[in-house]
Amino acid sequence: MEVERVQEIANFSKETIPEEFIRTTYEQPALTTVQGTVLEVPVIDLSDPDEEKVVRAIVDASSNWGMFQVVNHGIPHETVRKLIEVGKAFFELPPNEKEAYAKSPGSQSIEGYGTKLQREVEGKKAWVDHLFHKIWPPSEINYQFWPKNPPSYRKNNEEYAKHMHGVVDKLFRCLSLGLGLEGNEMKEAMGGDNMVYLLKINYYPQCPRPDLALGVPAHTDMCAITVLVPNDVQGLQACKDDHWYDVEYIPNALIVHIGDQVEIVSNGKYKSVLHRAKVNKEKTRISWPVFVEPPSDLEVGPHPKLVNEANPPKFKSKKYSQYCFCKLNKTPQ
Ligand code: OGA
Ligand code: NI
Repeated sequence: MEVERVQEIANFSKETIPEEFIRTTYEQPALTTVQGTVLEVPVIDLSDPDEEKVVRAIVDASSNWGMFQVVNHGIPHETVRKLIEVGKAFFELPPNEKEAYAKSPGSQSIEGYGTKLQREVEGKKAWVDHLFHKIWPPSEINYQFWPKNPPSYRKNNEEYAKHMHGVVDKLFRCLSLGLGLEGNEMKEAMGGDNMVYLLKINYYPQCPRPDLALGVPAHTDMCAITVLVPNDVQGLQACKDDHWYDVEYIPNALIVHIGDQVEIVSNGKYKSVLHRAKVNKEKTRISWPVFVEPPSDLEVGPHPKLVNEANPPKFKSKKYSQYCFCKLNKTPQ
């Protein structure tokens, strides 16, 4: 099957965009963004020695926004710069070299290079191509989907994956303490060291009508948490109290999204954030979210220590794979 990559469409769309990329008026970013607002997602310094303060900030951000940025997170800036460099270089390869990593049609796995094939419910398409591959644990990695070109792709991604653990562990510890649990209990509820780190590269080519199109439509992430590195082109938006706000680009910060599984384990205290991504007229935007997920056969539900007669469970317990299946097929959870 011939698949049209958005990168190719962008090459010949200089003034207008194909109709299927034009959003309804309920979604068009130019019509639905709160302009000139000072409201911003919280920025948290992870190196602050006052752990209680960090926990309070994370609880506050996770309950009110479901999203925050972290600075002084311990991942060397050079490691992030090299992650960005090789991902960008992959997408700048000629089409046939990228197609060697294409997800095969009909494959059950999410991994590989691709463009969303099926249109969304309203029949619209998103202005983005992507590459998915797991980066942790080693037993889950399929190097078939890791680009061999540029040659340092693998080394740079392994380096990033190695440094991610420190940030992820710290985030889960704070989220856990903030619920009155022991420091390790939130992580354990997500599968402990068996959690899977799935990297996605979103490649949003420049778009002549960023007022009409979206890179990613509104959604919440299915995973436990997402840790995202953007390039320096602003585009991410968060929804708070039914309004859309731009998330500021902060050099060297990581963006953390609370995903559905953390909302479920916390029995609704933390909120998975509704977010979307805009595209840019002059510049290509690229982002590297890592979705930190429970193993697919792990059953996830509200933590037993957080439910009682006065606080009944607000969510069903189910295997993570089952949760994803229902969400992707839009059947009730
Ligand atoms: C995603 C996503 C946002 C971004 O891929 O799930 O929300 O900033 N991306 O690219
Ligand atoms: Ni997302």
